[in-house]
Amino acid sequence: MSSSAIAYARQNAPRFLDELKALLRIPSVSTLPEHKGDCRHAAEVLAADLKKIGMENVRLIETGEERGGGHPLVYADWLHAAGKPGVPADRSSSAGWKPTVLVYGHYDVQPPDPLDEWLSPPFEPTERNGNIYARGAVDDKGQVVAQVKALESLLAADGALPINVRVLLEGEEEVGGEGIANFVASRPADLKADFALVSDTELFAPGLPTLCVGLRGRISTALEVRGATPALPAGMYGGAAPNPFFALAQILAGLKDENGHILIPGFYDDIIPPSPEELAAWQSLPFDEEQYRIHEVGARELVGEAGYSVLERTWARPTLDVHGIPGGFIGAGAKTVIPAKALAKVSMRLVPGMTPARSFALYKSYVEKIAPAGVDVEVRLIHSGDPCLIPVDNPYIQAATRALHEVWGKDTVFIRSGGSIPIVGDFDRCLGLPSVMMGFGLPDDNLHAPNEKCHIRNFELGIESLIRFLEEAGR
Ligand code: BES
Ligand code: MN
Ligand code: MN
Repeated sequence: MSSSAIAYARQNAPRFLDELKALLRIPSVSTLPEHKGDCRHAAEVLAADLKKIGMENVRLIETGEERGGGHPLVYADWLHAAGKPGVPADRSSSAGWKPTVLVYGHYDVQPPDPLDEWLSPPFEPTERNGNIYARGAVDDKGQVVAQVKALESLLAADGALPINVRVLLEGEEEVGGEGIANFVASRPADLKADFALVSDTELFAPGLPTLCVGLRGRISTALEVRGATPALPAGMYGGAAPNPFFALAQILAGLKDENGHILIPGFYDDIIPPSPEELAAWQSLPFDEEQYRIHEVGARELVGEAGYSVLERTWARPTLDVHGIPGGFIGAGAKTVIPAKALAKVSMRLVPGMTPARSFALYKSYVEKIAPAGVDVEVRLIHSGDPCLIPVDNPYIQAATRALHEVWGKDTVFIRSGGSIPIVGDFDRCLGLPSVMMGFGLPDDNLHAPNEKCHIRNFELGIESLIRFLEEAGR
């Protein structure tokens, strides 16, 4: 690897880490209103750095005016490599043509709780055994900073970028990505590019270069059951008044059978199963179910649909889960009330072929059908996102595997992820872009959990991989 940008990145690695730490000190929790200013601050810090390294047209783009103000997007570009974005890649007839990449990441983070499980405070980045611990270390600030530092290294070492670059960062990924979705849908002409580079995923195993080629979609819902109005004392009315928690439990229990199969009629009908080739490739991944059960899941047994492997169940099958059941009496001691209403937060993960609209409609009508007598149910959609599957037969994926081989010394594995990144589907549908999902997290990085970390060596090799990828994409 003779690239002078790589040499620059190695010389500046300690400073790059310091800059990551500065960003990690900003508690940009997108879901909590009290952190609105912190989200903007994180966006401003990234915008200032993009400007400093030589990116152009740097600006914050406001979002969510209709909602009373969302968190801003960060935009920047550098479009001085030869060629025009969106011109078909007929390389033979257009000498000097260079593609345009849309670089995506998110600066918002999940809430840090439960706080008492952190060994060092979530917004005081702390180094321990080769890792940096902080909320957002890997999801996604460490990866966004890796992208920016790759651009800095190229601009500083070569005075130019090997291809045209647009950067679009968001601050609402962890709350559904509404702002960026509206922007991408309404301003496609401002985002003309040939492919997207998304750094918000993980390696399949330490040291194993990985490209993610599929994400699950998702619908998040609230299921509310109302019984008697108002709440009643259970002593006098128990036996006659409907209990909404019981009705809720019956509905939830009716959504899945004991084999993990979702009972909503038609729910599985549109699924496009993975190809035999893809399934065979998953078979040869280094995956130990017992290790996974003990060290990642931490449960006595794994659950899920019979007849499917763990990777199939988490990557290529839909799920239905309950996340919270607030309501009723939860104080100390006893209070025998029959509450007026009960609520459950229910979400489903969707796989290619499924759509949020159809899945929600099927779920809603099934819940209404199985609701027991005497209660009213209301099913609300909170937010949703489409699943996506990325085509791999394009020159950008090939450039990525060449770059990864150089940096990591191994062939790339192609995986899917059970997680969701809502905007990736829109990059395809609204902008016609294939995404290269090149991320450097590790399966044990505790994303969304206490003691989230980023392996410092992965941060450094991530920067080198991104540098080499952009160089290869411009060859
Ligand atoms: N980066 C994650 C998604 C992810 C994690 C992809 C690991 C691949 C591997 C992203 O920030 C995330 O947390 N997504 C949420 C969805 C969001 C709408 C709350 C998710 O998957 O739960
Ligand atoms: Mn993320
Ligand atoms: Mn996340």
